[in-house]
This record gives sequence, C-alpha cells and structure tokens, in this order.
Amino acid sequence: MPTVGEDGTVAASPYRICFVCLGNICRSPMASVVMRRLVADAGLDIQVDSAGTGSWHVGGPADHSALRAMTKGGYDGSTHVARQFSARDFAAYDLVVGLDRQNVRDLRRMAPDPAAAAKIRLLRDFAPDGEPDLDVTDPYGGPDDGFDEALEVVFAACRGLLDTLPAAAR
Ligand code: 4NP
Repeated sequence: MPTVGEDGTVAASPYRICFVCLGNICRSPMASVVMRRLVADAGLDIQVDSAGTGSWHVGGPADHSALRAMTKGGYDGSTHVARQFSARDFAAYDLVVGLDRQNVRDLRRMAPDPAAAAKIRLLRDFAPDGEPDLDVTDPYGGPDDGFDEALEVVFAACRGLLDTLPAAAR
C-alpha cells in the first residue's frame, strides 16, 4: 500500500510479516532469517520481523543451539534481539504468523479486533505438501538435531508462504 510522506512524496511501503513463537529465541528467529533470505533472493521489498508471546527472553540473543543450526544452514542469527509481541503490533503488520497452534491461540486472544485476528496464520499451513494444523515443534532445551529439523520445516513452509504473498507484496 502506498504511503504519503510529510513532503507529499509517495513511497511504496513494504508488506510486513511478523513470525511469532513462545520465547522468540528459537523458532521465530529462524523463520525470520529464512524468510529474509527468500525475500532477498526473490528481489522483493518485504519487512520481516519476529516476536514471542512470552517475556522471559526479551532483550536477549537467540538460543545458542538455534544459532548453531542457523549458522550450519548458512544463516546469520547473531543480530537477533528477542522481543515480546503486543496487541499494538497487529497494526504494524499485514501478516502475523504463529509457529505452533498454541502461538496462534494466544495471538487470537490478544487480537484487539476482527481485522487484527484476520492477519493471524499458522506457519506450516503454508507448506505446499503439508497437512493442515501442524506445529513447528519447539526444540528449546532439546538435542541439536531438533533445531536442524525445525529449520528444515521452517524453510519448506516459508517457501510456501513466499508463493502465496499477494501481488501487493511483490
Ligand atoms: P521458541 O522456544 O518459542 O521457539 O523461542 C522457546 C524458548 C524459550 C522458552 C520456551 C520456548 N522458555 O520457556 O523459556
């Protein structure tokens, strides 16, 4: 959607996506780095952020195992700073994507109005060959391969998400 600046210039504001998990230190930071890469590779101007429904890790970096998986996958998660999603954030995004069904339930509870609620999606519902209603399993505190697997699942779903973005985002 175009934005009119104070000087009257019209700029195309980017489509805005926020990925939301529980802690914002494992799954949604992964989704964010993957989606940013896909968006850049496709030459699109899309703002990609992430947040958590919980507050425990606000201001802190991504989880060390998540960082290891991201580095192994060729992504840089080192600049991530965790933040908590708030009801006000709905106005700042076109799409709010939960990493699991509990995230989606929590977001729906937080949505201030039907327009905000309509922005909420479950990430794996974008995976082209996936069943509906699947979670990106929370790897937090588990073995390294859980993080590698989460990154793969996130990648497939983000590829699907990219293909479904409306023309306005392109
Ligand atoms: P995330 O994983 O939601 O993928 O970032 C978690 C990180 C931290 C906690 C739970 C899940 N925690 O309870 O601190």
